[in-house]
Amino acid sequence: MIFAGIVAGGCGSRVKSAVIPKQFIEIGGVPVIVRTVRAFLAVDSIDVVYVGIKPDWHEYTDELFERFGIDSRRVKVIDGGADRNGTVMNIAEAIVAEHGENEGDIILTHDAVRPFVTEKIIKDNIEAMREHSACGTYMPAADTIIRSDGDKVLETLNRSELYQAQTPQTFRLWELRRNYYSLSEEQRGKLTDTCSVFTACGEEIYIVMGEAMNFKITTDSDLRMAEMAAVSEERIK
Ligand code: CTP
Repeated sequence: MIFAGIVAGGCGSRVKSAVIPKQFIEIGGVPVIVRTVRAFLAVDSIDVVYVGIKPDWHEYTDELFERFGIDSRRVKVIDGGADRNGTVMNIAEAIVAEHGENEGDIILTHDAVRPFVTEKIIKDNIEAMREHSACGTYMPAADTIIRSDGDKVLETLNRSELYQAQTPQTFRLWELRRNYYSLSEEQRGKLTDTCSVFTACGEEIYIVMGEAMNFKITTDSDLRMAEMAAVSEERIK
């Protein structure tokens, strides 16, 4: 089976203007999380979309999904974890509890706060899993990137070798669980995404090309950009 795991268990502390976590904010009249879930539901080959959220927001999310006509037969809302990968693993465990662990099962993990993910990116991730056992979505770095001690430039890095990580990041479910549980607490604490679970275990990640519009809403300016994109999308329709 093919599962999507939408991580929405954060509190969005870097968006200062909002009183609710950024994934629940409406852009162009539709909450970010609803847009993201819809993007995955639009791909027929995805069997079930799991959404990991903070337990306090469970009732709110259920009501929101009902209000926006999200198909509850294909969407399951579960409790997120203490950090992003904790939420990913809660989703992985919920899938295994409900469907068992089957050799061919794959999971597309995705940030709830990347609502403009395209059908092409999702399908390219699924397609890549025919030949590879893990893949992630990346964009070649557009800016020159330096290493710094916080004050001074220590080194200008070779841009042609640098990529920015986006999501989805897609794995065989059983390999994700095996690799994650093989790491120590200390190793897990250093990871900032889920592909790093695999690289920490010495495994290869295939690169799926991302898109600039698949940006993550992290700060207030990202949120403003997302609002503009959502409104102009509506105008085009
Ligand atoms: N996330 C999650 N569970 C956590 C922490 C984060 O599912 N315990 C999710 C967020 O909801 C988001 C994604 O991981 O969809 C990317 O994280 P980030 O942008 O850092 O979100 P927040 O943790 O909410 O933001 P901040 O760090 O500003 O508080």
